[in-house]
Amino acid sequence: MRLQGETVVITGGAKGIGKGIAMRFAEEGAEVLIVDLDKSNGLETVREIGRNGGSASFTELDVCNEVQIASWLGSISRLDILVNNVGWTGKRTPVDQMELDDWRRVMDINLTSLFLMCKHAVPLLKQSSPASIVNLSSVNAYTMVPALAAYSASKGAVLAITKQLAVELAPVGIRVNSVSPSITFKEGVEKPLASTSEISLDCYPLGRFSTARDVANAVLFLASGEAAFITGQDLLIDGGMTAQSVSAVLRDDLRAGWKSGTYKLLPNSDTYGGS
Ligand SMILES: NC(=O)c1ccc[n+]([C@@H]2O[C@H](COP(=O)([O-])OP(=O)(O)OC[C@H]3O[C@@H](n4cnc5c(N)ncnc54)[C@H](O)[C@@H]3O)[C@@H](O)[C@H]2O)c1
Repeated sequence: MRLQGETVVITGGAKGIGKGIAMRFAEEGAEVLIVDLDKSNGLETVREIGRNGGSASFTELDVCNEVQIASWLGSISRLDILVNNVGWTGKRTPVDQMELDDWRRVMDINLTSLFLMCKHAVPLLKQSSPASIVNLSSVNAYTMVPALAAYSASKGAVLAITKQLAVELAPVGIRVNSVSPSITFKEGVEKPLASTSEISLDCYPLGRFSTARDVANAVLFLASGEAAFITGQDLLIDGGMTAQSVSAVLRDDLRAGWKSGTYKLLPNSDTYGGS
């Protein structure tokens, strides 16, 4: 077990990717402390971890509320790993129609919460040094879709604060990294989400969408001692999506090649010089 005897706080661990991370860390022997607003799902996740032989507890807490965070973290005696997973896309709104309150809410949930959690967790993490923090960013920090300005900007800022804190906290033995997932299938979601389709699957060279466990495995690696010399880095968990040129998706010959495993370029291809 890679995390035996270590205590990890996972924000937003009641469901979705956070739940996947909580389950994976518990499998590796960590004492998992889940904080979330969703008490019902949070307690269910704790029960599930217990049924699998792991150890976890739930605390109802708003990660945008500094008083609650300070009080709760002040009651904890040990912390080795902090996973800042809470995030929200916000309403999909074109920038010229976006309300300031909606912009601020996304920034609060995705960025300010991360700052507040780090601010109050760092004194504890210092005592456990070597310790680590893993933040959840998104492919939306790299490749944009319309009407998500606040989300994309907040996730870009997560990359920046990750590097900032990595430099700032290295001298006290705390590593700070992030992961950037693409669309992720969550626990209990078996069918493609409404927004996904055959064409969007072609955007992933590995030919499938990511699962919460794919993300959890990457977070586990970055949090564990196996990544002892890695800090200030972002790990894309996207099946190769951001590595692929758009022409590989749009050109019929390349898409067909991807599906069959044989790439036959169109005759007289000006881009690739195929003849
Ligand atoms: N799901 C995806 O496809 C995807 C892709 C890329 C990145 N991400 C990122 O991964 C992270 C997890 O995403 P998800 O889709 O699993 O989210 P989700 O909406 O399924 O779960 C988020 C959890 O956070 C909790 N939460 C929300 N606001 C909170 C607050 N103020 N205080 C405490 N808890 C709060 C919710 O109750 C919920 O349990 C987010 O940062 C998200 O931006 C998700």
